[in-house]
Amino acid sequence: MADVRALVPAVVEAATRAPSVHNTQPWRFVAHDDVVELWDDPARGLPVLDPDGRARLISCGAALALAEVAAAGLGVSTGTTLLPDSGTPEHLADLQLGDARTPDDAQRALAAAIGRRHTERGAFDESVDLPPETVRALASAVEANGCLLRVVESSDDAAAVTVLLARANDVQSRDPAYRDELRQWTGRDPDSPDGIPASAVPSEAPAERGSSYRLRDFDADRGDQGPQRAGEPPRAEHPLVVVIGTAADDAAAWLAAGQALGRLLLTATTRGLAASPMTQALEVQDTRARLARDLGLVGHPQVVLRLGLAAPGSTAAVGHANRRSVAEVLETR
Ligand SMILES: Cc1cc2nc3c(=O)[nH]c(=O)nc-3n(C[C@H](O)[C@H](O)[C@H](O)COP(=O)(O)O)c2cc1C
Repeated sequence: MADVRALVPAVVEAATRAPSVHNTQPWRFVAHDDVVELWDDPARGLPVLDPDGRARLISCGAALALAEVAAAGLGVSTGTTLLPDSGTPEHLADLQLGDARTPDDAQRALAAAIGRRHTERGAFDESVDLPPETVRALASAVEANGCLLRVVESSDDAAAVTVLLARANDVQSRDPAYRDELRQWTGRDPDSPDGIPASAVPSEAPAERGSSYRLRDFDADRGDQGPQRAGEPPRAEHPLVVVIGTAADDAAAWLAAGQALGRLLLTATTRGLAASPMTQALEVQDTRARLARDLGLVGHPQVVLRLGLAAPGSTAAVGHANRRSVAEVLETR
């Protein structure tokens, strides 16, 4: 077998393709021997949106999942230890690269999806009923990381998510500190290696998009748009809306939720599904608690996502968010 150390840059490059809140990429990696360490980078956190670092650790967990999937696709077994050093909470995980192992078709497909996955904020097809088998595959991807997938099915559930997303959006859009922070991560040069470029967001205001689910408005200066499309019936976009939940609500749970998110998104990509997180209701304490209660969740909601088929001819995002280079995030010892 070739020295597994030679694979480290490719594994880390895959990890950097992970979704992260506001594309903050709040991670760094240290490689030594056959181990890739994942470290938190709190300086890239969002103190207003994410004072506890929950979304930051979910982002890092997603990076870990993509590293695991990439290693498997490259033919290497892996072992992951979360939070290996209790005295050093920024040391989030160790990924041990192991023996050569021929990847199966599913592992190859997941690894191949890493470069294709992106957040799709454009309209979804109106008439999609995802086969139950697809939903089961998404649930398995989440359960493999010890998390739960709650599908928002009944009209009561859907109404609760709709109301709480709108409420959280109201709270955040009225908060100048939230808008300042958003502006820092959206107002960057299009070539910036981080943050959200305008090209990754449809130009229409979220309030105009004609769906009951309010997506995050990345225009920090637009101000409150009022209720969604007042007076007009919303176009029937029927995304599959799911919630990733965990039993605990601590650093290990957030990392696991991120791993689950990473695997779910790659699984969705292999099936041609588009996805976008819509996590505003989880960033406001009151709406997060109400979401858990209204959906009757046993544990804690960590990520809300919509999934579907990107509508042909929609204003689908064409631009992809950039990433920092491997050289910038990887230290080799
Ligand atoms: C914890 C978390 C929360 C996120 N919340 C939202 C959100 O509310 N709205 C949204 O459009 N994207 C959201 N995203 C997606 C990020 O903006 C996206 O991953 C990042 O900009 C990188 O782009 P990419 O996913 O296309 O690679 C979230 C991602 C993570 C990991």
